[in-house]
Amino acid sequence: MNTDPTQQTATGWWTEAAIYQIYPRSFADSNGDGIGDLPGITARLDHLVELGVDAVWLSPFYPSPQADAGYDVADYRDVDPLFGTLADADKLIAEARSRGLRVIVDLVPNHTSSAHRWFQEALAAAPGSAQRSRYIFRDGLGPAGEQPPNDWQSVFGGPAWTRTVDPDGQPGQWYLHLFDTGQPDLNWDNPEVHEEFLGVLRFWLDRGVDGFRVDVAHGLIKQANLPDWQEPQEILSGNEIDKPRPPMWDQEGVHEVYRQWRQVLDSYPGERVLVAEAWVEPAERLARYVRPDEMHQAFNFEYLLAAWTAPAQYAVITRSLEATDSVGAPTTWVLSNHDVVRHASRLGLAIGGGRPNGIGIGDPQPDAALGLRRARAATLLMLALPGSAYLFQGEELGLPEHTTMPDEARQDPTWARSGHTQRGRDGCRVPIPWEADAPSYGFGPTDASWLPQPPSWAEYALDRQRDVPGSTYELYSAALRLRRAHGLGRGTLEWLSSGDETLVFRNGDLTVLTNFGDAPVPLPPNAEVLATSAPLNDDTIPTDVTVWLR
Ligand code: NOJ
Ligand code: CA
Repeated sequence: MNTDPTQQTATGWWTEAAIYQIYPRSFADSNGDGIGDLPGITARLDHLVELGVDAVWLSPFYPSPQADAGYDVADYRDVDPLFGTLADADKLIAEARSRGLRVIVDLVPNHTSSAHRWFQEALAAAPGSAQRSRYIFRDGLGPAGEQPPNDWQSVFGGPAWTRTVDPDGQPGQWYLHLFDTGQPDLNWDNPEVHEEFLGVLRFWLDRGVDGFRVDVAHGLIKQANLPDWQEPQEILSGNEIDKPRPPMWDQEGVHEVYRQWRQVLDSYPGERVLVAEAWVEPAERLARYVRPDEMHQAFNFEYLLAAWTAPAQYAVITRSLEATDSVGAPTTWVLSNHDVVRHASRLGLAIGGGRPNGIGIGDPQPDAALGLRRARAATLLMLALPGSAYLFQGEELGLPEHTTMPDEARQDPTWARSGHTQRGRDGCRVPIPWEADAPSYGFGPTDASWLPQPPSWAEYALDRQRDVPGSTYELYSAALRLRRAHGLGRGTLEWLSSGDETLVFRNGDLTVLTNFGDAPVPLPPNAEVLATSAPLNDDTIPTDVTVWLR
């Protein structure tokens, strides 16, 4: 028997699952207030079964002032009235499970909301108190403490420190927030913080969830003494394995936290999982989060960010597989989520151009047709890869980014904090269309929608695509069905060719070909086409098309 744990390969539902991200605010609104909610999700679960996914991941629905759309959690053990009640969460979990869908919830351990009881207690308590030591409070620099304790910048722009006001009205200490001012960072050097989160894990595990997506998993531990960091703030930490790491990201101590959490999950029946949202490069460094006694999976953002060219896709796929193989973990794949420009729009921008943080009026606009064509090819390529795949709500409709949203409608704190230079993430978070001719395209019973839906979205509605041959929805559901039937998620990739124009690989009994080049390429003789991302021309595969062949 092989006793080296890194040489064993993980098994379990999650290693090959297709996992669908629900952004609760924008999925389905049951009561017409313009904000999606838990009963809305429960009522639409059959859609996900029909689509053919194995699990859902829900972005946060906990009580929150919504300074960062719920990633500012005021109470980890309840549901915000905006989204429903704990009973609604229980019902959603039960209804999902009765349909064979697993449920992953979001856990936000790097920071709480400033409205969290702990932070309010900290503000009311004295410097050096036990209450303050749950967060990262420091005296300011300068004669009157008027300058922040170090030069760190917030990921959303502006300084990562905010000065507090003491109960007597005098300026007080500063607190660290790597994100919005409403998101104070917790102090993970404090054992009480560890205890608290072990309790939160148990709370949701006891309610039957199948796992947690762990927000900013690479951020919890900060380098001692909080040294200055001259580089611009990037949530992505470094791209060379031995380059100095930024003092706020990917510190060694985070791994001990996940080892402890893993033990808690393993003490529950069923296969409960931890998924790291860790913006860590390169792949070898990210693989350290999914060593056998740590998390189960990590999002593969290097894949999401790779350029749409054959060499870039070949390189990232190969590197990703090698890195996770080295620790016996499955690879994951993802093209869209609630933090990035949707891939149907991103891939319609010039290849190699800058990656915008949001797109708005006055910005270069993506080529929508090209973007959708490439997005469909990219998705069909992704769904043929071994490992698990994450899908973001609406991508099964080919939904583009809202790239002309009026700036007054924007809600992402990035827009204000960056001094109106980064438009941020609202464009991918718009409530999704279900019925072309209904109010709010069937998102809810009224016209209300917390972000405006573009007038052109009727054509993307589910009811315009269901049972329509060639629609993006039918492409996704067929691909997910075939992926399951052919065991692609648990398969093995074997490259057949990797040139500058095309990539060809085998996974099980399937051959997958993507044409990235300018010219059509011939369909291999005697090939049976099981799926294609766009119509073929006679016996050739046009540009920006993926085919699954047997
Ligand atoms: C990552 C989440 O995906 C993002 O939406 C959020 O703003 C930050 N973490 C801070 O919690
Ligand atoms: Ca609602």
